[in-house]
Amino acid sequence: MPAPHHHPATAMLGLGHDPADRDGSLKPPLFPTSTFAFPSAAAGKRAFEIAVGIAEPEDGEEMAMIYSRLSNPGLEVLEERVAYLDGMPGALSFSSGMAAISTTFLAHLRPGDLLLYSAPVYGGTDHLITEMLGELGIHVGELRPHMAGQDLEELLAASPGALKMVYVETPANPTNALFDLEALASFAHAREAILVVDNTFLGPTWQRPVEQGADLVLYSATKFLGGHSDLIAGMVSGGEALTPIAAMRTFLGTMCDPWTAWLLTRSLETLDVRMHRQAENTGRLAEALAGHPALVDLSYLGALEPGSPDADVFERQCLGPGSMLSLWFSDEESAFRFLDALEVVKLAVSLGSTESLAQHPATMTHAGVDPEAKERLRITGGLVRISVGIEHFEDLRDDVLKALAAV
Ligand SMILES: Cc1ncc(COP(=O)(O)O)c(C=O)c1O
Repeated sequence: MPAPHHHPATAMLGLGHDPADRDGSLKPPLFPTSTFAFPSAAAGKRAFEIAVGIAEPEDGEEMAMIYSRLSNPGLEVLEERVAYLDGMPGALSFSSGMAAISTTFLAHLRPGDLLLYSAPVYGGTDHLITEMLGELGIHVGELRPHMAGQDLEELLAASPGALKMVYVETPANPTNALFDLEALASFAHAREAILVVDNTFLGPTWQRPVEQGADLVLYSATKFLGGHSDLIAGMVSGGEALTPIAAMRTFLGTMCDPWTAWLLTRSLETLDVRMHRQAENTGRLAEALAGHPALVDLSYLGALEPGSPDADVFERQCLGPGSMLSLWFSDEESAFRFLDALEVVKLAVSLGSTESLAQHPATMTHAGVDPEAKERLRITGGLVRISVGIEHFEDLRDDVLKALAAV
């Protein structure tokens, strides 16, 4: 077992699993079981008393396994590792990123509450917030990058409901827009609201929102945490704010299944290596693309204008620029010519995987976003989002330059 001071790259190889407890198995086993046998009726009663909150566990008392909708030994290993990566007391795994987000909302928001959210966000999250929360009587208001002091006060004054949650996706999908977590944590906490951060784009390698005051950190684990485009999962890490989410997960049944959790645990072993290689490829690719005549604009967090508000947030908040690029062409036709000419980079939604992926947010991941909001948030017909993978850099560079020449 790794010691508490070990770096994440080391901890991901063994944390939460002691081979001595599992017949010497070096790796955590998979537990494909729906239910767990109790050693006695009294033990079953005790397990349920603790699970439903009738009794508190004694010091050192192990939580017995009951049923895989509540937990499973494999989920516990995964959750311990993600909590460690995020520097949080605990974590919960889910069947998708959307399951993690919707369960978090349902656990913390009630009719009459106000949710302030950063814009843009992933298209599915946008739909959940702008189309579905209203039907439950939950008010929502939109945060723009670098809103501070008076702007935030005015937004709050203009929004109905009592502020309960500030929800921030930073960097934002699909434009890489940055939001100042420290400022938003102070704003939320001064009003007894919680700050929830979707850290999917930078992952725990390049951003640790707990250090800026986040109460909950969540992921589409389908992306960098999984990293191989072969699973769908979500994670939420946190402290006190995690408790109602655990209860809600049990009753909604939005937990991760044992096989996916096992695969995800395996993926975490290479997270650090993958994210470093992806970031290195991205930096080199951004350099090769800078100033290309086919591009109207390029957003890469490693090349922000010195002294700009974005550069200031990046320096205080991010540990590296990650591997997401936003490319703006003059229009949809040019963007499509570029996408259709790519060969090494695959034309597919999703991100954070070993292979590079490119997609057209305005007509794909963000197709359902209100057209006026799309224009205002720069999700234009000319925008292409690229997630850079671990290919050999020269193949990647040649492929992207060849596609740019086809524009
Ligand atoms: C930033 C972000 N959050 C959440 C999600 C939703 O995750 P999932 O597709 O795993 O449900 C996505 C999916 O693309 C995303 O990009």
